[in-house]
Amino acid sequence: MTSDLFARTRTLFEIPDGVIYLDGNSLGVMPKAARERVITELDVSWGRELIRAWNTCGWIDLPSKIGDRIATLIGAPPGSVVVADSTSINLYKALTSALQLSGDRRVILSDSGNFPTDLYVAEGVIRTLDRGLSLKIVAPEDIEAAIDADVAVLMLTEVDYRTGRMHDMARLTARAQAAGALTIWDLAHSCGALPVDLTGANADFAIGCSYKYLNGGPGAPAFIYVRPDHQPKIQPALSAWMGHAAPFAFPLNYTPAPAIDRMRTGTPPVLSLAALDSALTVWDGISMQDVRQRSMELSDLFIARVEALCPELELASPRDATKRGSQVSFRFHEGYAAMQALIADNVIGDFRAPDIMRFGFTPLYIGFAEVEEAARRLARIISENRWDRPEFKARSKVT
Ligand SMILES: Cc1ncc(COP(=O)(O)O)c(C=O)c1O
Repeated sequence: MTSDLFARTRTLFEIPDGVIYLDGNSLGVMPKAARERVITELDVSWGRELIRAWNTCGWIDLPSKIGDRIATLIGAPPGSVVVADSTSINLYKALTSALQLSGDRRVILSDSGNFPTDLYVAEGVIRTLDRGLSLKIVAPEDIEAAIDADVAVLMLTEVDYRTGRMHDMARLTARAQAAGALTIWDLAHSCGALPVDLTGANADFAIGCSYKYLNGGPGAPAFIYVRPDHQPKIQPALSAWMGHAAPFAFPLNYTPAPAIDRMRTGTPPVLSLAALDSALTVWDGISMQDVRQRSMELSDLFIARVEALCPELELASPRDATKRGSQVSFRFHEGYAAMQALIADNVIGDFRAPDIMRFGFTPLYIGFAEVEEAARRLARIISENRWDRPEFKARSKVT
């Protein structure tokens, strides 16, 4: 039964007493296995093995080993995903690679719901390549109509970080490819949140974070997917030694590693990789369909309760659960202060400017009773104006 399944997965996490955590879409909860593994890496691997651990503890292969684990969660074959760098850097790698394959087309097409870093990276790529490229940004609902013969790359985030609105990856990929364009999908809010089928969608490139639904820890390294037939054609813009065919031969010139390993750059962050490697064991035996089903039930319940109890809040996410990711967002004119008040009441979500209160639903460690209680506490904060206090209005750097 799925309820037993999720009761079991919950025990795999360190959840602080009394906290209702609805922010796994931003930073996942710490898996117990990750904590133990990092301690072992410190005490045994680094502490005793020292430099030998690159070989004896398998440090050198962690990026591809973990890449293969993540591949199983996003419908990708072994050898098509590697873990390295941040999502922003992986987007740079994917975009510069896609632009090598796209001939003399000039347009990078994206939408106004994309995460800003993706748009900023594209701006930087356009500036540095200096070959007449431009970034076209349209409303999410206008993307399909904007795909034409000028588009070199369609660059989208599948699930909107603010509203949770989800694009149809298979449909848009097919549409882009029919028009002769390549696709890059940012899976930051998809991976570990819902079933992703990169192979089925025939996506060209994908990138994503591991610190959100994959629970890899703060700043955990990101992943990059390159469709296997593209891999041998790519000369990485960030041609660095760990992506070399023979890094320890130390030749003066760059020869890319045979396959996805060419998307590696420098020395991998071993402690973060170790945490992520162990964090991914919580997915063993878990069906993404079950996770999706439960996440839709949890988020539907939250919407129903909040709308019944807090008429002041306006739903910013699609009402149809099949059209959104694993988060629900509400607009409220004092959303920042209300979120701070809620956090002070031990329900943790987050805020995205200008007025979005964001709540993530992670079935691996969140259940129905907590969702109901979170809605009740939110209602008290709104109906009693508890947010209207100076300490809740002082903005921190991270919102
Ligand atoms: C959709 C999306 N893309 C990219 C990023 C940024 O990733 P990174 O900080 O690893 O570069 C985020 C961060 O939240 C995100 O939500």
